[in-house]
Amino acid sequence: MRLTSIAYGADYNPEQWSAQTLDEDIALMSEAGVNVVSLGIFSWALLEPSDGRYDLGWLRQIVDRLHAAGIGVDLATATASPPPWLGRRYPETLPVDQNGVTLRWGSRQQYNPSSAKFREKVAGLVRAMAAEFADHPGVVAWHIGNEYACHVRESFDPESAERFRAWLRRTYGTLDALNDAWATTFWSQRVYDWDEVIPPGPTPTIANPHQRTDWNAFCSDALLELYCLERDILKAANPSIPVTTNFMGLFGALDYWKWAEHVDFVSNDSYPDPANPRAARDFAFQNDLMRSLGGGKPFIQMEQVTSAVQWRPRNTPKRPGQYGLWSIQAVAQGADGILNFQWRQSPGGAEALHGAMVPHAGRDTRVWDEVVDLGARLTDLSAVVGTRVEPRVAIVWDYANAWTQANACGPVTDRVPDIEARAWHGSLWELGIPADFAHPGGDLTRYDLIIVPALYRLTDAHAARLREAVAGGAVMVVTYLSGYVDERGHAVLGGYLSTIADVLGVRVTEPVALGARPDVDGRAEPLDPLTDRVSSVVGTPGANDSVRLVAPDGSAWAGSGLGWSERIAVDDAAVTVVAVFDEADVEGLPAVTVRAHPHGGAAWYVGTSLDARGRDSVLRRTLGDAGIAVPDLPAGVQRLERGGLTFWLNHSDVTTTVDGIDLGPRSVHMARP
Ligand code: GLA
Repeated sequence: MRLTSIAYGADYNPEQWSAQTLDEDIALMSEAGVNVVSLGIFSWALLEPSDGRYDLGWLRQIVDRLHAAGIGVDLATATASPPPWLGRRYPETLPVDQNGVTLRWGSRQQYNPSSAKFREKVAGLVRAMAAEFADHPGVVAWHIGNEYACHVRESFDPESAERFRAWLRRTYGTLDALNDAWATTFWSQRVYDWDEVIPPGPTPTIANPHQRTDWNAFCSDALLELYCLERDILKAANPSIPVTTNFMGLFGALDYWKWAEHVDFVSNDSYPDPANPRAARDFAFQNDLMRSLGGGKPFIQMEQVTSAVQWRPRNTPKRPGQYGLWSIQAVAQGADGILNFQWRQSPGGAEALHGAMVPHAGRDTRVWDEVVDLGARLTDLSAVVGTRVEPRVAIVWDYANAWTQANACGPVTDRVPDIEARAWHGSLWELGIPADFAHPGGDLTRYDLIIVPALYRLTDAHAARLREAVAGGAVMVVTYLSGYVDERGHAVLGGYLSTIADVLGVRVTEPVALGARPDVDGRAEPLDPLTDRVSSVVGTPGANDSVRLVAPDGSAWAGSGLGWSERIAVDDAAVTVVAVFDEADVEGLPAVTVRAHPHGGAAWYVGTSLDARGRDSVLRRTLGDAGIAVPDLPAGVQRLERGGLTFWLNHSDVTTTVDGIDLGPRSVHMARP
């Protein structure tokens, strides 16, 4: 955004109120220190009341008023919620779900990204918006669409099918190459004509996993094309106004690494659940991801809530102090702006009970007091604007990997890359260690410790990057379910991980899933040795949720494995076994290994889903080997550094003293060292 101080504000939907409320809002915004609002996100129906007739004058008046009051506008292109007349007049713009049901108006985001007519209508509105506002000095950024794919990520209509085929032709060139990539010789799926190639499902049983992964990539690209259509119109009108669209944390439907190349700054919406004691940690995960998607540049917290959302079954408000605490946490992790959904609580509609900066109860409220308090504190933080946070630890994350694993039929339905990335990030956060996320195809050599959670799809190019980092002296921890398939999602032969066995010194010869819920046909009766002469003496370790781990000499080892084990072949004399499984069928077999490399590098392999104790133990050791000190902090306290400032954040419910500073419950202290 074109601001020199931390951006503070909200989505602003003033069309819901009278002109008098606008006057009051501007006065209140000044009181709260609001310097930017996102305007017009859901205004299409008012901006284009009928086909091709634009009415932008009312919006211009509001932009003028805000600008005169010193409030910048993050101006939306308003394409996120098409008006009812559009769907009625052009039904082909409506999305179709997998069962052939057309999704209609009456909510929002009811559009088919591949519809030529929809793209034409979007371009028309965006051209009109650009013509009216691209030279307005009050516009500090463009906010394109809103939360792409949040509600509709795919459409199973004829135009989408046609674009999918075109995408596949560009990707594979020939039908033979597509048949190879999709392994269509299995189950008689070979296609002989491009018209036989269709979007996945509905099908009688398991759909082709390679087709599904390509469909995921195509759907992400189709929406990106739609976004870029708008971006190009806006940039042609005035290249100096930065553009963005709001991401949603890890949200799996879009490849945000790819999307991030097309935004001028990354922005994010996040709503951690205050009822969850790990909410600040979930929030930290998103903040680290957003900073990383932008290549380390500051991001904008585009949406959060001051108090409670309205879309959970029960909506717990943020606790007193948490709004300010978490907002400043985001700044300390790299945010240059803190915005909310929304400025004023709506009088009606689907989000009337969603929190806002100005609550239904008005100014005489705890929420308003905290809103004003944060505004004042953010003005003290201008010195950090534009500065970077540069962690020495990276967690590898790849959307194509997550799609491939999710689409594979077996060996487990859990979304393992997601679960493991969160678990390892959470453990680092609890230890007080900041982390980046990194794409496996990027340069990893600037990190001292690299966590590789469930890199199921390990391409040759990605393996080369990991190899390069370890050769350069990095410590790497690769977890279970890595290196099972290649770039196309085809099985790795000769033992999983064999393509990187030179680094790890191990291969996986058999996955041994645990935590299974046994199939029971007929009556489920307790086993009784008197009546179950055969069955009562049959063990079922696969039904255990966890597996004990011990040191190779049988002594205790901190932590156990959850839901997973693997048969690991150790091929290399340089490998040290750190822990072994201590359960039937895998007893005494390696569970955690490490292979030392020259120049200080080391490659760890963890053949199970380590519990928190186990992750903590591996992290303390690997952080030490990587030369990264674990800070000594009291319970509940985080200490972060950004732009020459130190931030002490007390997440706990008690007053705590750290570095000679008394921190009240859910409070922040900031100072230059
Ligand atoms: C999303 C949307 C907003 C609003 C909030 C409510 O982030 O972008 O328009 O619906 O959710 O939490």
